[in-house]
Formats: sequence, structure tokens, C-alpha cells
Amino acid sequence: MDIHLISHLVVFVMSEIGTYYALDFGGTNFRVLRVQLGGRRSLILSQDVEQRPIPQHLMTSTSEDLFDFIASSLKQFVEKEENGSEPSSVRARELGLTFSFPVRQLSIHSGILIKWTKGFAIEDMVGKEVVGLLEAALVRSGLDMRAAVLVNDAVGTLALGHYDDADTVAAVIIGTGTNACYLERADAIIKCQGHLITSGCMAVNMEWGNFWSSHLPRTSYDIDLDLESPNPNDQGFEKMISGIYLGDIVRRVILRMSQESDIFGPVSSRLSIPFILQAPLLAAMHEDDSPELKEVDKILKETLEISEVSLKVRKLVVRICDVVTRRAARLAAAGIAGILKKIGRDGSGGVAGGRGRSDPEMRRTVVAIEGGLYTRYMMFREYLHEALNEILGEDVAQHVILKVTEDGSGIGGALLAAANSSSSVDNVQ
Ligand code: GLC
Repeated sequence: MDIHLISHLVVFVMSEIGTYYALDFGGTNFRVLRVQLGGRRSLILSQDVEQRPIPQHLMTSTSEDLFDFIASSLKQFVEKEENGSEPSSVRARELGLTFSFPVRQLSIHSGILIKWTKGFAIEDMVGKEVVGLLEAALVRSGLDMRAAVLVNDAVGTLALGHYDDADTVAAVIIGTGTNACYLERADAIIKCQGHLITSGCMAVNMEWGNFWSSHLPRTSYDIDLDLESPNPNDQGFEKMISGIYLGDIVRRVILRMSQESDIFGPVSSRLSIPFILQAPLLAAMHEDDSPELKEVDKILKETLEISEVSLKVRKLVVRICDVVTRRAARLAAAGIAGILKKIGRDGSGGVAGGRGRSDPEMRRTVVAIEGGLYTRYMMFREYLHEALNEILGEDVAQHVILKVTEDGSGIGGALLAAANSSSSVDNVQ
């Protein structure tokens, strides 16, 4: 777990004026953003976002190749945004780097990559300081910019969530990967003891994707997926929940059924291609509401090249998507309930701030959520809400608001850059 001081963020940011950039890197795409802050509660004046896919080969190449690519994309974006004009202030351009992999945080603007997740495997980068690598690439590209902060996407999302709504106590990412972060009293964090940080709140980056318990409902499909992944025995929770893996679990189930019966006709060789069935296809099949299941028919024929796609087969495939997605959503809901329990917001009257189940004064509790699986896959979202209501009970769940925080990881990174910019850190008491 990494911890970040966040308690004074809102105060700092509200008085910030200027343009900040953000680079949000951590999945199949990366985003570059430019955010203009108005100060004095006029807050975010404008924001521009550009999304680019990470070329597949860069996910396993060298850190230099990866960062050169990122730096040159960032440079093009900056040039377009500034349209040839000089930056408005004398200070160097500042950047919030949202880097969504497990990092050992050394300071607010530096950290060491512990390991890769989500299919990335750039060996030479493990154990290296991330911001130093980016800044070296920025120098090579000729772009004058410094990284003011290094944050995880869950932390960025919490920052934006908290900035928008002070009742935000946690942030959850459910996209290519999954993770969560929550606000904890500094005096309750063992790592803070002895560091003179005993008041205020800290954001705790849980890296919950790596949570593991023998109680998790693991099947042989999960075991095979894990063994064949670039990071076996790692990220067990993530491999049952997040977008990069769900379609592949479904593919494995269909493949096994096809090998062990003739229900799908001859075994299609496409079924043996890892990750051929991506989350958007899974969602499209699951949410196909046409009576003839036309979308399912199309995907089975065109993507998976399955020859036997009778209505019975199509219905079976929808059922498989349903089981896999429902399990994922329920596990994510259990994780959220666990956080609420830890901070006394689950209505059990436990730790600080907790109140009894039937207490009408249970505090409004906001959880910021980002990630395509939650924001674009309605069945996933419905199952997650259903499970959270079941776990917490209706009377508590009505006080818990799951709030989509669009671009939270990137904009939150820019806000944190503002809060920690060279102009603002001078003012920190
Ligand atoms: C993976 C990363 C984590 C990130 C999450 C969501 O679990 O390890 O750092 O927050 O994906 O992107």
C-alpha cells in the first residue's frame, strides 16, 4: 500500500491559477490532458483531453522506447494546445503523471516501479524510478516540462472526487485493471507513525487487484488464465474482476465446452487465441436485447468463427457472460463494502464515524468510480449495485453514492500537480 497526503489538497488547489498538464498512463490507452484552473473556487476553467492507444509492441519493449513514444505524443499535444505561443507564465510547464501500476512512492513526485500488471512486461523498468525515466525522455524530445506529482489512477480519482464533493471517502477503478483508494485517518496508519504525520487524512492506495484469499470463488478457468499470464500468482482479485480478463474467462469456458461436446460444432481455432474476446464484445453479447440475439450471432460467427450458433447456443453464451460478469461485479461490491466497513461507513457502528444500521443520521458517503467496465457496461454496474445493497442493507446503501468521476485519474493528477506545483509548495506551512 502507498500513502499520499491529501487532506489539504482542496485548499491548495482552490487558490491555484494556471495551466497544468496531466499524463494518464496505465492501460490499453493513455490520455494527455491540459487543465486550466481559475483559482478562488472558479476551479476548472477548461480541459482538453486526447486519448491514444499504446501500440501493443511497446507493452513488452524497453522503457526508453515506451517513454520516447509517450514524450513525443505529449509534445505534439502541447504544441497543438499552445498553438506556437509561449506558455503564459514564466514557470516551466508542470505535469501530473498518473502512472497506474504498483509503485513504491519515494516522494510526491517520485517512485519506483515494483512490478508490472495488466499485460505490461518491460523488464528493464522494474525497480527504476518512474519520473526520472519520463523526464529523461522529455529532455530527449526537447519538451520543457517537469512532473510535479506521480500518482496512481485511484489516487487521482479520489483527488478529483474529493475536490468535486467533500463527502467522497474512496475511489474505485474498474477498467482494464482494478484498484481502490480510500481516506484514512493519518493516526491509524502504521507507516505514518514516527514520521510526525499524526493529524489529517491520508489517501491509502490499496492495490486491491493483488488481494488474495482462499475464500475467493476460483475455478479451473481462473487457474489456467493465471498460469498462462505474464504475472502468475499475482493480481488474483484483478484477474477475476477487471476488463482485460473477463472476456478471456468467457473464451476459456466456451473453448472447454466446445472441446468436450459438439454443441458449438467443430472446435474453432479462434477460440485458442488469448484475449480475442475483449470486454466490449462481452458486454455487447450480454446486453443483446434483440429477440434473435443478433449481436451474439455476429460475434460468435465473425470474431470466434464458431459454426454452430443456433438460438440455444446463443442463449447459452449469454448465460456464460452473465455468470462471469455477475461474479466480477459482486466481488468488486464486496471490496467496496470492505472499505466502508474499515472506515466505519457500513452502518455497523464500528470504527470512527460509524453509526448503527437504523440510525437515520448515517453520513452521506460518496465513492468516486472510474473505469470502462463500470461506466460502459450496464449489466456489470447493475450487478455491483445489487450486491452492495444486499451486503449493506437498503437503509445503509441509500446513503452510499457511487459517483462516476469521468477522467478522474487524469484531471485528479493535474489537480494534484497544481497543489504541488513549484509555486504552491512554497506556500505550504
Ligand atoms: C492495476 C494496477 C493499479 C491500478 C489498477 C487500475 O491493478 O496495479 O496500480 O490502479 O490496475 O488501473
